[in-house]
Amino acid sequence: MEALADILFSQGFGTRYECKSLVESGQILVNNQLIDDPYVLFDTSDLVLTYRNENWPYYEKAVIALNKPQGYECSLKPSAHPSVMTLLPTPLRVRGVQPVGRLDVDTTGLLILTDDGHLLHRWIHPKRHVPKTYVATCRYSVSEDMLDMLMTGVVLADDPRPVKAQQAKKLSDYRLSLVLTQGKYHQVKRMIAACHNRCESLHRTSFGAYTLPNELQPGHWMWIRPEDVNGGAV
Ligand code: URA
Repeated sequence: MEALADILFSQGFGTRYECKSLVESGQILVNNQLIDDPYVLFDTSDLVLTYRNENWPYYEKAVIALNKPQGYECSLKPSAHPSVMTLLPTPLRVRGVQPVGRLDVDTTGLLILTDDGHLLHRWIHPKRHVPKTYVATCRYSVSEDMLDMLMTGVVLADDPRPVKAQQAKKLSDYRLSLVLTQGKYHQVKRMIAACHNRCESLHRTSFGAYTLPNELQPGHWMWIRPEDVNGGAV
């Protein structure tokens, strides 16, 4: 059981003082009921907070999926474009969600964010080999030779050890899907360039066991659970 003001604080609604004031000024509903005493205790399981007509289910740790549009940087301190963080509501930013790895500014698609340091570490750790699926559109047509090269391994400039795709499939004349288990800088673009082609656009469709849902529009986000990414294992 936790006091309402503490619950709000944990969910990113502001400082402890601000959370207490939000409750006292009658701005918070708990499971559809107005509560104006910040010290009332609640069981956090299945708890839904409502603030300014928006529902906020309680999550001890936040894990969200964002459909990243082009033109956003994954850095928290972006240099030339807005950060993906600007696409998120304040409570998620305040509670400290961070991108799990990075997508280039012009790459679109699935970006997972979390405020759970353990999950973040686990999902980006190179030894975990979390698979990620990308769809690339190339300048020149996708040949069988190119698919073979991607599967057997290509050497990139910064490392003599070849990197290979776990899967490379032709989707149409100019499009292919690639599953990678590493996360090197510009990896897909550099692998495609190493095959004498050029990546014209790149979209990530899955991360671990989680696939970007078709209904999640660019620039929008949704709550997910760690097991969605881990494939059932918590
Ligand atoms: N590989 C790239 O080249 N860019 C990305 O954004 C992700 C993987």
